[in-house]
Amino acid sequence: MNAISLNHPLIDHKLSILRDKNTGTKEFRELIKEISMILCYEAMRDVKLETVEIETPLETIKTGRLDEEQFAFVPILRAGMGMLDGVITVVPNAKIGHIGMYRNEETYEPVNYFFKVPKDIEKREVFLLDPMLATGGSAIDAIELLKSKGVKKIKFLCIIAAPEGIKKVEEKYPDVPIYCASIDHSLNENKYILPGLGDAGDRIFGTK
Ligand code: PRP
Ligand code: URA
Repeated sequence: MNAISLNHPLIDHKLSILRDKNTGTKEFRELIKEISMILCYEAMRDVKLETVEIETPLETIKTGRLDEEQFAFVPILRAGMGMLDGVITVVPNAKIGHIGMYRNEETYEPVNYFFKVPKDIEKREVFLLDPMLATGGSAIDAIELLKSKGVKKIKFLCIIAAPEGIKKVEEKYPDVPIYCASIDHSLNENKYILPGLGDAGDRIFGTK
């Protein structure tokens, strides 16, 4: 599988609070931010560093530095915005794009309503952010939009992924790895992830 799941007791602990229907908006946002930071660390495990020379108080050494300018974060609105805080805490100089998308409540097909990315997006490695990968429809359309702009390297970061969504993305875009905090067991009849955490956008923004 092209999906990498963070496998860590602390993440499982945080997920158990996140999934709890009694967890309020403030704590929910904080947990999404925290898990997103850790996902970003994991997704950046293979990035190349530039060698620079620095002086510590004791000696001169050659060490690695990240050229933050080579990255862009692209949240899928709305819920992806909840992850942005976490990833820009880790890589504050990355550029940011936005893709507006919602799922039609009857067909479950994604509807795109906004697309704005940095001018030089084709030169950047893009981290696409959305807490929920359910049927995979939104992820596929978002990846398609980025590829149509010439983006060559994309990683998809989510909090919870359903096997159906992973399979769909893997089949269409095997070059796009998926980083998640959990792979849940299935989707219900309304295409919500089980056990999941409910509607991520509504829980982040307190809209229900
Ligand atoms: C949710 C979620 C994803 C999408 C996942 O967004 O944040 O974007 O559904 O479903 P899929 O994999 O079946 O496409 P939603 O449509 O609820 O919009 P919102 O973020 O504005 O709440
Ligand atoms: N979108 C959500 O917010 N949650 C799900 O479980 C599926 C899609």
